[in-house]
Amino acid sequence: MIYEKLNYMPGECMRSKRYRPAFEYMFVLSKNGVGPFNLITIPKTTNTNPGHFRKKDGSLKPASSPASIGDTKAAPNVWQYTVGGQSHGHPATFPEQLAADHIVSWSNPGDLVLDPFSGSGTTGKMAILNGRHFIGIDISPEYVEIARKRITEVIAPEPDYLANMDLPVIQQESASGLTIQ
Ligand SMILES: C[S@@+](CC[C@H](N)C(=O)[O-])C[C@H]1O[C@@H](n2cnc3c(N)ncnc32)[C@H](O)[C@@H]1O
Repeated sequence: MIYEKLNYMPGECMRSKRYRPAFEYMFVLSKNGVGPFNLITIPKTTNTNPGHFRKKDGSLKPASSPASIGDTKAAPNVWQYTVGGQSHGHPATFPEQLAADHIVSWSNPGDLVLDPFSGSGTTGKMAILNGRHFIGIDISPEYVEIARKRITEVIAPEPDYLANMDLPVIQQESASGLTIQ
């Protein structure tokens, strides 16, 4: 799938003889086939002609439009977002809607979403807002703290929510000998 950046970086084209990059690929990988698939729909536009398929014998067959649902149609595999705006102290924060659209498409409420490169926690925030559980991992303790703060704000706007909870303390000896609490 394609992630198109509506506000791509302007810049030099004439010397390089290249148009500006405005998209990234989004790979949807799954083991043993795709699991849940909750189709995102968008409003139908004026072009309602579903087009034609070419059959093996070369003749054209009018395409039925199974993707049409009422006044909406299935979203295409190019998703457009405006990048930036809120950095949260991280240099590569994803658009929240991008994370939400993937979470909603490929999981169901109550499922567990894992982001092994969670950065500022955009995936976690949108997972919680969409009724999923979340585990995030990042190599940077600074980014983990940013993510923890963003996600906690979604779980409970009260800043001392976690402090007031009677949470069990889990102790674990890590390979480096450090105690993780
Ligand atoms: C593109 S950013 C993710 C941004 C995130 N989606 C967000 O919206 O904030 C990639 C993240 O991967 C983290 N990272 C890089 N190498 C890693 C590794 N080996 N293990 C875990 N995290 C890593 C970086 O610290 C960075 O925060």
